[in-house]
Amino acid sequence: MNLIHGFRKRFDVFLPLFVLIITVLFIAGIHSESLAAAQLSNDDCVKCHKAVQEIVDAKGNKHKTAVSCLDCHKGHPPMVSKDKIIPVCSACHAGKKHYEIGNCKTCHSNPHAPVDMKLAANLTAPCLSCHEKQGEEMKTHQTKHSKFFCTTCHKAHKQIPPCMQCHRPHSSDMTEKDCQVCHPAHQPLTITYGADMPSKTCASCHKNIYDTLTGTDTKHAKLACVYCHKDKHRNVPACENCHGSPHPAGMVAKFPKCNMCHTSAHSLGKEASK
Ligand code: HEC
Ligand code: HEC
Ligand code: HEC
Ligand code: HEC
Ligand code: HEC
Ligand code: HEC
Ligand code: HEC
Ligand code: HEC
Ligand code: HEC
Ligand code: HEC
Ligand code: HEC
Ligand code: HEC
Repeated sequence: MNLIHGFRKRFDVFLPLFVLIITVLFIAGIHSESLAAAQLSNDDCVKCHKAVQEIVDAKGNKHKTAVSCLDCHKGHPPMVSKDKIIPVCSACHAGKKHYEIGNCKTCHSNPHAPVDMKLAANLTAPCLSCHEKQGEEMKTHQTKHSKFFCTTCHKAHKQIPPCMQCHRPHSSDMTEKDCQVCHPAHQPLTITYGADMPSKTCASCHKNIYDTLTGTDTKHAKLACVYCHKDKHRNVPACENCHGSPHPAGMVAKFPKCNMCHTSAHSLGKEASK
């Protein structure tokens, strides 16, 4: 009893002193913590966060060269709570359409390697924040490609898929390089070509016409398909475009269509010789 009483008495006496000491320690503590935070430099981080430092060194890009660890992580636990030292992207990236799309981490999955992206297979809308033109092309020229996501074909950023990954060529001598001469990827049915397109290429689908034209002895036989069918697939010229009015008006009045006598542009009434 005596012992307990004695302790309590001493405790009563020392209580104010105890509170004082705690208070001093607390203030000193905060003081020394803020000192510690001020002392942490960018060179220190690697001592404990080697793995992160290595990623930043290898793949940090502008997050290595344009900003430092401390630009993004202001403070350190336990002095500053964990959730307060992780920056939001919008703290530094604002004012462009691309920065408004949200979900930054779905593509920029690691802020320490910001351009090392893994793209999901179902992305279209976020791509359009920078590639409006391609989105517009696919929308205004409806084809079966318009139903695809951008990343159905572009599985990684800037990766171009070969057409022949999904399609067969029209003839065995066609190469990948040929496909896009006629078909623009995002509007593949807008088929155009230049004056140097060889007739053989058309022959892969129009074999009969090719055989007729090249098998007859006429001046047309020396012309390339695309000399007459210029620029765009299914472009059909009128004979008069090139020949004007070669015959007397009286004859034309009686026989208004050239092919009434000349049969067809491809044969000009001659039989194929082979
Ligand atoms: C003495 C070792 C040490 C140093 C130096 C150090 N850290 Fe840390 N860091 C840690 C430890 C330990 C944790 C985990 C703290 C916790 O879980 O409460 C941590 C946590 C973090 C976190 C939060 C991680 C999370 O889980 O959310 C970030 C961010 C961080 N440190 C960044 C830095 C930066 C930037 C530097 C350099 C300015 C740095 N650290 C220097 C040891 C250190
Ligand atoms: C551009 C801003 C930025 C820079 C620069 C940056 N970080 Fe980070 N850091 C972040 C973000 C954002 C997170 C949260 C990542 C998450 O939630 O997945 C993070 C997370 C961390 C973490 C905890 C998660 C982990 O990956 O271990 C540590 C530790 C860390 N950073 C350390 C560093 C160090 C060290 C540096 C410098 C070498 C640095 N950071 C540079 C933005 C940055
Ligand atoms: C403390 C500021 C800061 C924060 C926070 C920040 N960034 Fe950056 N980031 C920059 C700066 C500065 C650049 C370089 C900009 C420039 O050169 O135009 C940059 C560049 C980038 C780049 C281009 C990298 C390159 O090398 O081309 C990407 C991508 C990027 N940031 C994504 C993000 C994402 C995603 C977040 C959020 C996780 C984020 N940033 C948070 C400051 C920051
Ligand atoms: C659908 C994927 C995706 C999403 C979501 C995304 N980005 Fe990007 N981001 C990209 C691609 C792709 C690039 C182009 C990289 C290149 O040029 O190599 C890029 C480039 C950047 C750049 C550097 C080029 C520039 O125009 O400034 C910054 C900064 C950036 N993104 C920040 C962000 C922020 C902030 C968010 C969230 C609001 C975000 N990104 C969401 C895919 C995405
Ligand atoms: C922040 C802007 C940004 C975003 C978002 C973005 N890109 Fe890009 N993209 C670029 C830039 C910049 C280039 C380079 C353009 C150049 O070289 O002229 C590029 C180039 C490309 C290229 C062409 C590569 C080449 O060889 O010409 C393709 C394909 C591409 N992006 C697809 C995509 C897809 C798919 C998405 C959505 C997942 C996307 N981009 C999102 C900025 C972006
Ligand atoms: C990822 C696979 C893929 C790639 C790469 C691809 N396509 Fe397609 N394409 C398809 C599919 C699937 C269809 C629909 C086929 C069907 O329904 O019979 C299609 C349809 C087409 C059509 C017919 C469109 C219509 O509406 O009738 C053309 C023409 C075409 N592709 C040309 C190309 C060309 C040229 C390239 C290269 C620039 C290309 N494709 C790249 C998968 C692809
Ligand atoms: C059917 C596959 C396919 C789809 C779907 C597709 N692309 Fe492409 N894209 C290609 C091919 C193939 C090229 C190469 C074209 C070339 O070299 O002329 C290309 C080229 C590009 C380029 C380089 C510049 C240009 O126009 O040639 C960009 C940017 C691009 N695509 C963005 C997109 C975006 C954004 C989407 C979604 C709206 C998309 N692509 C959908 C196959 C596709
Ligand atoms: C001389 C121009 C030309 C070249 C070169 C060309 N195509 Fe075509 N392609 C066409 C025409 C014309 C059509 C028929 C379009 C129509 O029905 O209106 C077509 C149709 C298609 C179709 C739709 C399905 C079909 O077979 O009718 C696909 C797929 C296709 N092409 C893929 C390719 C690929 C892959 C290549 C490269 C190996 C290629 N094309 C090269 C002109 C061309
Ligand atoms: C992939 C096969 C394919 C290729 C290659 C192809 N065409 Fe066609 N072409 C077609 C189809 C399919 C039609 C439509 C036939 C129909 O409607 O009966 C067509 C129709 C035409 C028409 C008739 C248009 C009309 O309204 O009567 C002309 C002219 C034509 N093609 C010229 C060409 C020329 C020139 C080339 C070479 C530069 C070419 N084609 C290459 C498939 C092809
Ligand atoms: C001297 C000009 C000329 C040349 C060369 C020519 N065409 Fe034609 N083509 C025409 C004209 C004009 C028509 C319209 C029908 C007619 O008057 O015979 C036509 C019609 C067509 C048609 C529609 C179907 C039909 O038979 O009426 C196709 C397909 C076609 N041409 C493909 C070709 C191909 C493939 C070649 C090359 C092998 C070719 N043409 C060479 C002028 C030409
Ligand atoms: C794109 C221009 C073009 C079109 C369209 C065209 N031709 Fe020709 N045609 C020519 C040329 C070039 C010659 C050769 C002239 C020369 O060498 O003097 C020619 C020659 C001829 C000849 C003389 C043949 C010979 O072997 O002596 C006849 C007949 C003829 N064309 C009829 C037609 C008819 C009919 C049509 C329509 C069905 C037609 N052409 C459409 C360009 C064309
Ligand atoms: C009533 C029949 C008939 C009609 C209709 C006709 N032609 Fe002819 N055309 C001929 C005959 C016959 C010749 C001379 C025989 C030959 O040279 O093959 C000829 C010759 C030509 C020649 C070659 C002239 C030369 O100087 O070598 C051209 C070009 C020609 N016709 C174009 C046309 C065009 C274009 C039309 C339609 C506006 C047309 N023809 C309508 C019967 C006709």
